[in-house]
Amino acid sequence: MIDYKNNKPFVEGVSIEEIANNNSTPFYVYSQSKISEAYKHLNNILKSEIFYAVKANSNQAIIKLMSNLGAGADVVSLGELKRAIKAGVNPKKIIFEGIGKTKNDIAYAIEQNIRLINIESIDELKRINEVALSQNKKVDVGIRLNPNIDAQTIDKISTGKKTDKFGIDANKLDNIFQVLEVSTNINPIGISCHVGSQIFNINVFSKIFQKMKNNAQIFLDRGYEIKYIDLGGGLGVKYKKDEEILNLQLIKNEMDKYFNDTPYKLSFEPGRYLVANAGILLTSVIAIKNNGGINFLITDAGMHSLIRPSLYDAYHEIEAIEKNKNQLTDYTVAGPICESSDILAKKISLPKQKVGNLIVIKDTGAYGKVMASNYNSRGLPIEILVNNDVFLIIHKPLNTEEFINQDSIPDWLN
Ligand code: LLP
Repeated sequence: MIDYKNNKPFVEGVSIEEIANNNSTPFYVYSQSKISEAYKHLNNILKSEIFYAVKANSNQAIIKLMSNLGAGADVVSLGELKRAIKAGVNPKKIIFEGIGKTKNDIAYAIEQNIRLINIESIDELKRINEVALSQNKKVDVGIRLNPNIDAQTIDKISTGKKTDKFGIDANKLDNIFQVLEVSTNINPIGISCHVGSQIFNINVFSKIFQKMKNNAQIFLDRGYEIKYIDLGGGLGVKYKKDEEILNLQLIKNEMDKYFNDTPYKLSFEPGRYLVANAGILLTSVIAIKNNGGINFLITDAGMHSLIRPSLYDAYHEIEAIEKNKNQLTDYTVAGPICESSDILAKKISLPKQKVGNLIVIKDTGAYGKVMASNYNSRGLPIEILVNNDVFLIIHKPLNTEEFINQDSIPDWLN
């Protein structure tokens, strides 16, 4: 994502050093053209409706960009739903997923007339029916199924095995049919699934298509007019230099095998695929130290700015802006948080660094800022969107004074 012009790093036409001179690190930078490219590529090949999984990067500028490109929004909370609506997404292009929808969330979604609420449990189905009844409306819903498919990805981001908490067991559909029969204000017109994230194995996609087609048929046989089949997200992206790029055409070929000549409107709900490779996290070197033979490069970004390496042992390539290729050194890049797990990369080879240098953590456009926290009472990173040679700060978090002022000390402690 970074291009060098006269040895100076740029994102599109914007100098990273110029941004860094005016904003303190760590900060995220996103490339609009990279996001657009990813969307267009996906859309051209899969030729299905795309609902951007807002959870990957929920900044309203990003949601708006997706919407301008033609995507809908896949949301999983009231907050995400409100963001999508505020960003101007047509409610008929919003689907509401998520395993913990309250009455309040459901009431708002129904008032907004969104495309589908995807139910995840029988309790939720009953709750939606109640709220719909009280608003005197009939509500279009999708049923999120748990198809019992192993996504063959990291366990912590696998969601489609029968022991995972998501969806309704596709082998126990009779239970749901019983409740649907008495749910007067529910209109089941879709089924959906999502079996995990960062999936590369084409056989996994093939299984999803096969099972979802069979499940749709079961609903049709019971007299439900299933119009939409949502095939989930999970499209894998390349993080390591030697990793392959997911071949979308192979996925499309599998889709065609199962869905050619079927009447369903097919959709996907990818998050990572659309934004991961379009973002970087910029950080500065705070200190360099050797402990027990390990050369630590301490940066101002850490698990509070990007938790993926600590939480999932996720790999993010790290690049130093200062490039003295004659002096390569092994560094373990660690954040400033008081936890030993606050490591961004172990033993990587970088040009020799000094305090104050800028370091780039790559492919952090998805599940980066959205999972950042104020842990250790550190500030959140700002976010910047670059478009050709202009850029804008698209998120300015509360500063230290502002966020520490959110606490209240009770009188009785004074
Ligand atoms: N749809 C549903 C219902 C989901 O739960 C998810 C992601 C997606 C779509 C989008 O999946 P994607 O296309 O981005 O793989 N924080 C983790 C990833 C968690 C994904 C959770 N669900 C990470 O940093 O790797």
